[in-house]
Amino acid sequence: MNEQLIIDGQRVDASDGGTFEVCDPSTGGPLAAVAKATKADVDRAVKAAHAALESKAWGGAPPAERGRAMIRIAQALRDRVEELATLESRDNGKPLRQSRADVQVAARYFEFFAGIADKIMGNTIPLGPGYLDYTVREPIGVSAQIIPWNYPIQIGARGLAPAIAAGCTVVLKPAEDAPMTAMRLGEIALECGLPPGVVNVLPGMGPEAGAALASHPDINQLTFTGSVPVGIAVAKMAADNVVPVVMELGGKSPNIVFADADLDLTVQGVANAIFQNAGQTCSAGSRLLVQRKAHDELVARLTERAASMRVGPGVSDPDMGPIISNKQLEMIEGYVQIGKGEGAHVAAGGARPSGPDLGRGFFFQPTLLDRVSPDMRVAQEEIFGPVLAIITFDDVEEAIAIANRSQYGLVAGVWTRDINKAMTIAARIKSGQVYINTYGAGGGVELPFGGYKKSGYGREKGLDSLASYTQIKNVCVRFA
Ligand code: NAI
Ligand code: MG
Repeated sequence: MNEQLIIDGQRVDASDGGTFEVCDPSTGGPLAAVAKATKADVDRAVKAAHAALESKAWGGAPPAERGRAMIRIAQALRDRVEELATLESRDNGKPLRQSRADVQVAARYFEFFAGIADKIMGNTIPLGPGYLDYTVREPIGVSAQIIPWNYPIQIGARGLAPAIAAGCTVVLKPAEDAPMTAMRLGEIALECGLPPGVVNVLPGMGPEAGAALASHPDINQLTFTGSVPVGIAVAKMAADNVVPVVMELGGKSPNIVFADADLDLTVQGVANAIFQNAGQTCSAGSRLLVQRKAHDELVARLTERAASMRVGPGVSDPDMGPIISNKQLEMIEGYVQIGKGEGAHVAAGGARPSGPDLGRGFFFQPTLLDRVSPDMRVAQEEIFGPVLAIITFDDVEEAIAIANRSQYGLVAGVWTRDINKAMTIAARIKSGQVYINTYGAGGGVELPFGGYKKSGYGREKGLDSLASYTQIKNVCVRFA
């Protein structure tokens, strides 16, 4: 496979002809050669995005037309689910059924935001006789979007759909570790009739294409998903140009389980929250806080489940696929060693699996670290792998204190049959989302999503995300 950039409606090579190799994490072998965007390419894409904003075909078109194009994109994604899911599983390694779900969620983003494209309304503000004051919500302009490799098509759609609905144009920089489906998304947008320059897709390296985009003086907004240090760096670049940022930086989200919880439901929910996507999920439930009375039974059942999971290549639709890269795999292994050194007990997994179809892929076993205490590094730092840190508590107050003893605050799960405990925790937890007797709600397309504390700021998903892609103009008329 040979992949090009998408700039101004055209597929083009990088300005200097450079490419980079994308790897299949299930085999460790090459998947595709992809054009590597340069600073000059970023500059051209930002110019094209501005021209599209001013064009009759986009900036001058009725909002309902944007909605219709987005419905076509949703349909095209659904029509191509097998092809796109297979590509996602090759590129990222995730199990096919997860990739299919990701494509459906991507379609759902376009569908959800298509319906709001012609309903982004302002207000009238009463000033008394002789005045009419009204507000208009205008598109913020060119949205720069830097996305990670863990959910390329989902996160690609998560940023594109609200931006397009609001009438913005986008320059999207996929992650170098898994750029393929984000590029398909750009092609589909074009095929479905979005005018040239509305969606530009520039795969490339973070420090080169990513930094050129984040520091570009002519972008009007930046949406970033990724690590805390890179998030801080790009926010500083954007700050130099007074460009607002939406920042989604991951977490160390707790699942809090009481002894009165429905255990079948809980085992399922807790396991899925950490092992989905091999734990490489910003909202992964990577800390299990379990009430002492329930500890032994829950850990026994989770251990059984972890041990029975089939790890294998994404396209073989296993229970869990590989880690994205050897670098990330080594980091995860390092954390398991750190946990052992801190006194944690490896109740399941903890090593690379072996098997006939695992070859040179970057696999790691589903892992449970028991007897973790709240201040250990494995309880505090994002591991971004299939490693669950298990911490015991006695009562509601202690659970809340441990849950909030984190630099992060993205998601929290509570598992109990007692509505009073559940609501007390929902009120006092410091995180952007709380789930009670469930975790994640599918793609959660409709639900505002974002962080407290170092998990980030701004909200994606749901109608609240539109605030990032619109700016309010107030018009005051005196007619007395
Ligand atoms: P990263 O933060 O380096 O990559 C995210 C995106 O930022 C990619 O598109 C990358 O090309 C871009 N980028 C990297 N350096 C840049 C720079 N100097 N200027 C502009 N853009 C830049 O994340 P990485 O290295 O892939 O993963 C490291 C850790 O980050 C993971 O272990 C995990 O803890 C966290 N992470 C969190 C994610 C989330 O969903 N919140 C997603 C991916 C990683
Ligand atoms: Mg990086």
